[in-house]
Amino acid sequence: MNSSPKPILLAMARLDRAREHVLRTALRLNESALLRTGAEAWGELRSYRSVVLDGLQPIPKSAVAQLQAFVENGGALLAIGAAPATAADPLAALLGVVAETARPQCELFSKCSRETNELLERIDAEFAVVEALAALQVLHADVRALLYVNWALKDEPAAVERRIGDGRIVTSSLGSSSQALLVPALGVILRRALRSPLPAAAGRRTITSAIVGYGPAGGMGFVHGSGIARTAGLQLAAVCDLSDSRRAAATADFPGIAAHVNAADLARDPAIQLVLIATPPETHAALALQMLEAGKHVACEKPLCLTTEEADSLIAAARANGLMLSINQNRRWDPDYLAVQRAVHTGLLGDIFNVETFVGSFEHPCRYWHSDAQVSGGVAFDWGSHYIDWTLQLLPGLPRAVSALAHKRVWHDVTNADQMRVRMLWSDGREAEFIASDVAAVPKPKFYIQGTAGTLAGHYRPLLFERLDAATGYEAKQPHFAEAPATLLLARFESGYGITETKLPPQPQQPFAFHRNIADHLLLGDELAVTPESVRSVIRVLEAAEASAKAGGELIPLEK
Ligand SMILES: NC(=O)c1ccc[n+]([C@@H]2O[C@H](COP(=O)([O-])OP(=O)(O)OC[C@H]3O[C@@H](n4cnc5c(N)ncnc54)[C@H](O)[C@@H]3O)[C@@H](O)[C@H]2O)c1
Repeated sequence: MNSSPKPILLAMARLDRAREHVLRTALRLNESALLRTGAEAWGELRSYRSVVLDGLQPIPKSAVAQLQAFVENGGALLAIGAAPATAADPLAALLGVVAETARPQCELFSKCSRETNELLERIDAEFAVVEALAALQVLHADVRALLYVNWALKDEPAAVERRIGDGRIVTSSLGSSSQALLVPALGVILRRALRSPLPAAAGRRTITSAIVGYGPAGGMGFVHGSGIARTAGLQLAAVCDLSDSRRAAATADFPGIAAHVNAADLARDPAIQLVLIATPPETHAALALQMLEAGKHVACEKPLCLTTEEADSLIAAARANGLMLSINQNRRWDPDYLAVQRAVHTGLLGDIFNVETFVGSFEHPCRYWHSDAQVSGGVAFDWGSHYIDWTLQLLPGLPRAVSALAHKRVWHDVTNADQMRVRMLWSDGREAEFIASDVAAVPKPKFYIQGTAGTLAGHYRPLLFERLDAATGYEAKQPHFAEAPATLLLARFESGYGITETKLPPQPQQPFAFHRNIADHLLLGDELAVTPESVRSVIRVLEAAEASAKAGGELIPLEK
């Protein structure tokens, strides 16, 4: 029987709604997390999964004894900026640290301990935080440093772990500032600290992986092979491809792996735990189902499938078998998109009500399966599976209705439409548009987003690689138009002043973040970055768009 997990107790030094919001966001605490503040009496802790202490607060000796018993019985205690200043304080004795006086707030560099610890698996070795550092002084020998901060060339402990009984205490002085709490790497560590410790070495297992469909350099098989090779905890053991030359390419790129012709042979191999599917889209649903039914976790290329019915059956199969199903929506980590998302999430645009995206150029569509509607699912599915995914990430909730118009006017030798415009309408009046075009000689902006406080425009910045060859002279290479990053301009309206324009830099690159998340999920129980439910909504919109375009632009209502 499925019982819902116990709630989390969030004990804050004082009631501060803005801080509570940041804590709930960074630690992914849902409504079931119970808030208590200040002098309220400490009750029975057995009904909680974990306790978060936020900020320095007076905790009676009896409550500290309860907290100790709670941890010894397997509970997780996370103390953020809550370490007392004196060793005589009973809480200091429990945490195993005292905090020094806070120093001026500034940008600091946090370094992970070199000791093996599941909390630090696949975390960047160093990351920046803005914090008023209160360095921690260790009181007990069983306290292990997790994070150090470099201050005047000296590494000082800023987050530590203490294990007592079956549970764990993590004390962090990083995260006292809300800005630090929202740093992704710190958020991952603190969220892991909310869980009971894993059995010894559980986080250090290796997931034996295979790839079905091996597109060599330039194709996705090679990308996944490289992602696996670069991700601790994943190991590539086999590949499967119908084509002799593709299998040969795979074994040359990744020597020592097995190569199968038939997916059934791979499905039968009990050693394979995770299958990454990188075949053309029309084959995804059947292959993913075959692998899930064979007991394998599945990471599928986008688009997950071509119909909502297929998405539902894949989600059901993953649930029924207790397996992971995720989708390589790798463009959720694109540096320009992350900068857009950051502007939206930090409220710089106010409430957003219109999202327009565009991809295209005026050139002959590729003469490969991507241009074949039967295999690709149609023009909306190819790039749309990324752009509609971005749209639905920015405008949450399923649209009320979708319509689309397609043109077939120039490129008659391929079956994908030359251009498709997809319109999405939400029941509260929000709207979105996506255009994919092979007949647009002047590109529209990649992003055009309107909110109640301003507008964000992202214009493509085409890349051109130029060189002078000693023998042949000038050479110039232009990558595919869709790979051009966007230059982001944020324009905000201020009453009584006017419009202020700001250029937004891209967020830093996060290579192979998708693969890292899969390993974190399978080995440590971290939440999936790309859930199949979120991708089902994308497929729902794309399927409706293709149906609307066939019906001449009819508005298709979306029921769940
Ligand atoms: N996430 C991204 O940014 C991104 C980028 C490009 C492509 N893709 C997706 O990745 C997938 C693969 O694209 P690609 O460009 O690498 O394609 P590709 O055509 O280069 O490679 C696909 C391979 O799959 C093999 N194959 C086909 N059916 C098979 C089957 N039933 N069993 C075993 N092998 C089979 C083919 O022989 C081929 O070698 C597509 O779904 C595409 O949409 C995603």
